[in-house]
Amino acid sequence: MLIKRAADIRPSEITPRAAWEDRRRFLQHAGAYALAAGGLALPDAASAQTQPGWREKLPSVRPWPQSTKEPQNTFEQVTSYVNFYEFGTDKSDPLKNSKNFRTRPWTLSIEGEVRKPRTFGIEELLKLAPIEERVYRLRCVEAWSMVIPWAGYPLAELLKQVEPTGNARFVEFYTLHDPQQMPGQKQAVLEWPYVEGLRMDEAMHPLTLLTLGLYGELLPNPNGAPVRMIVPWKYGFKSGKSIVRIRLTERMPVTSWVRSAPQEYGFYSNVNPKVDHPRWSQARERRIGEFFKRETLMFNGYAEQVASLYTGMDLRKFF
Ligand code: MTE
Repeated sequence: MLIKRAADIRPSEITPRAAWEDRRRFLQHAGAYALAAGGLALPDAASAQTQPGWREKLPSVRPWPQSTKEPQNTFEQVTSYVNFYEFGTDKSDPLKNSKNFRTRPWTLSIEGEVRKPRTFGIEELLKLAPIEERVYRLRCVEAWSMVIPWAGYPLAELLKQVEPTGNARFVEFYTLHDPQQMPGQKQAVLEWPYVEGLRMDEAMHPLTLLTLGLYGELLPNPNGAPVRMIVPWKYGFKSGKSIVRIRLTERMPVTSWVRSAPQEYGFYSNVNPKVDHPRWSQARERRIGEFFKRETLMFNGYAEQVASLYTGMDLRKFF
């Protein structure tokens, strides 16, 4: 992803991505080995947070039969190796900087091409449909991945409440804009608020998850509390966090990443090992916690469920 705007950065400042990824990987593994040898303490995610809502159980979560059986990443990995630029651009920033982020009260409004625009309180969202634990793979555009037990229900359950009109072709998701609480928004890393979007049929797809928790608990702040999207066949940045507004539109939204670097980030951003990012390969990925890279799967392994959404589209052109 971009850390600085292209105009602000001198070529000599750019570290080739592969080099710093390798350096970081080395440090992570060095840390893990030192820990195994009893030498070094890794940061403890649980002790870094104390606010209400941190590690709070969801009342009832039912298992989802199609969950992947792959080994899951740990709660500590999921909450401390994070992208949430509103709280800083380093992977470890959001855990530290989101400690006092207030997620109550919280509302999510749905507007635009709908017959019944409405604002939902977070308590309503928690009761709107049965919450399932869905273990999905998450593949970041930066070529790392995790396996995470999310909790939520299909976004379609929420959208049908507001009755989309026949003109609704796209859905836009807006993250909260509050630089007082989100210090990263004081930097012009991206244009705020963070905006993401899906085509209507993608948004209504049963895999697209309105996400309220992970590991059977309310969503931790670094992972987009109290409500975020998870779209498992797309690169992770399509899954906006801490959402306050959803807008149904006739025209394709200009998302934050497309606005920032259209040559690097397309609207669709389906996980596709054959379409490289201009600055690095997407053919392989590192599962956090593993040493060797693995092959990246088309649509992140969800091709059987979603490939038909793109029949007839040239996925090199619509990347
Ligand atoms: N949403 C907002 N609002 N801000 C962000 O910086 N980062 C995205 C996505 N959603 C991001 C965001 C990226 S790049 C990824 S890979 C996923 O969140 C990571 O989700 P996780 O950190 O909970 O695993």
